[in-house]
Amino acid sequence: MSFKAIIALSVLGLVGAQQTLWGQCGGINWTGQTSCGSGAVCTYLNDWYYQCLPGTSTSSRTSTSTSSTRASTSNTSSTRVSTTSTSSTRVSTTSTTSTRVSTTTSSPSSTPTGRVGKLPALGWNSWNAYRCDINETKLLNAANQMVSLGLKAAGYQYVNIDDCWSNINGRDPSTQQILPDLNKFPNGMASVASKIHSLGLLLGIYSDAGTKTCSGYPGSLGYEAIDAATFSSWGIDYLKYDNCNVPSEWQDNWTYPDWGQSNSAIRYRQMGTALAAQSRPIQYSLCIWGAAQVWTWGASVGQSWRISGDSAPTWSYITSVIDRNVAIIDYTNFYGRSDMDMMEIGNGDLTLAEERTHFLMWAALKSPILLGTDLSLLSTDQLNIIKNKELLAFSQDELVGAPAKPYGTATTTPPEYYSGKSSKGVHVFIMNTSSSTSTKTITFANVPGLGSGSYKVHDMWTGTDVGTFSGSWSTSLGSHDSGGWLITPA
Ligand code: GAL
Repeated sequence: MSFKAIIALSVLGLVGAQQTLWGQCGGINWTGQTSCGSGAVCTYLNDWYYQCLPGTSTSSRTSTSTSSTRASTSNTSSTRVSTTSTSSTRVSTTSTTSTRVSTTTSSPSSTPTGRVGKLPALGWNSWNAYRCDINETKLLNAANQMVSLGLKAAGYQYVNIDDCWSNINGRDPSTQQILPDLNKFPNGMASVASKIHSLGLLLGIYSDAGTKTCSGYPGSLGYEAIDAATFSSWGIDYLKYDNCNVPSEWQDNWTYPDWGQSNSAIRYRQMGTALAAQSRPIQYSLCIWGAAQVWTWGASVGQSWRISGDSAPTWSYITSVIDRNVAIIDYTNFYGRSDMDMMEIGNGDLTLAEERTHFLMWAALKSPILLGTDLSLLSTDQLNIIKNKELLAFSQDELVGAPAKPYGTATTTPPEYYSGKSSKGVHVFIMNTSSSTSTKTITFANVPGLGSGSYKVHDMWTGTDVGTFSGSWSTSLGSHDSGGWLITPA
């Protein structure tokens, strides 16, 4: 029977309890059909997802449930992996043909590729600075500046190449490998990776879950395994995966009760699975612009997911994306977070106050922070913003994964008052959305985790103690400026 026939019969309800080709057939929390129609094999992709893939093996598998998860598959030519119960996620590679990924059996503390990416990524990306006009020299300059300007010492790690790095004319005709554009990267990508690594930094690359990238370079849809293996062999540490040029058969049909089963989720999961199969840990950034309710499934696929279209160096972009993130703030935690897009500090006409708020809110809401400008042009004031120790420490807290969240009754869009915990205590962040200087008051009893007593207020921007106050404390904030304070019992 052809797959089309299987699908047609299934739609008519004539195939009993069998999943259709490409459908989900197992995984954590999966309660639907667990066997595939003839001609398809239920195949382990990761603990969260088994999929009916073309094949004729009669292998069967055990479905999984939340608390005592036990996913095991028999090996077919394209399936592998059994999970073991370990107290923390780890990976052991074997010398056989496939890589074995071991994961915890309790509720997931990390994603399938979550060997990295517990904390929001800190780094630099080429797109906002250079668009398609990218080459090895510009990239290595950025990397060297990350070191010489003290950004590496402040915690910035990733040097990420965006679109337009590959050979636009296509893949290697015999191996189907994606190729670099040798005019831009004359020494190839493995050489770039080794130069970046020798600076103590990590290298990111870009591809697309469609037939072509947004700028028309080869996409990875259908080439996930080969591209993930190629990236790994080059020494790549991070993949930004875009969402352009999706063929019609892969478009979402807008009727998913669970968007984790959407075609978008499958496209992104296919690359996540391919990355997880590499011996090299590769952080996975889903550039899906907030489509397909990605926040509901993104953490089971990668470490971050874009929630908006492209950033712009404008106050309206900054406020609108903060507002969008606030609506889905509970989805951000260790190993999975909403990505408010790359930094615009240094670009356009943002005021210094707006740049401060841009950085402070990305840190407070625990978005990835990927600088997006020619670093050599940053002023001392701008460098001081992006190197602020206490805001970076809040973003990178090893013990607290949750971001700051609005408190009190918001009267503005986005809200102005946020609080969050770090391993040091309770923090309050305030942004002034108005076009004039305003007085802002922290009433301690209104802040989750504080009460009506006396508290010490410590300014995160300056790293200095402001004093001890009873009941409340007020400060003045310039238009579009912001502040962050650690507030501890007196
Ligand atoms: C967009 C993406 C941008 C940039 C660009 C490259 O879709 O949101 O961040 O990567 O593609 O063409």
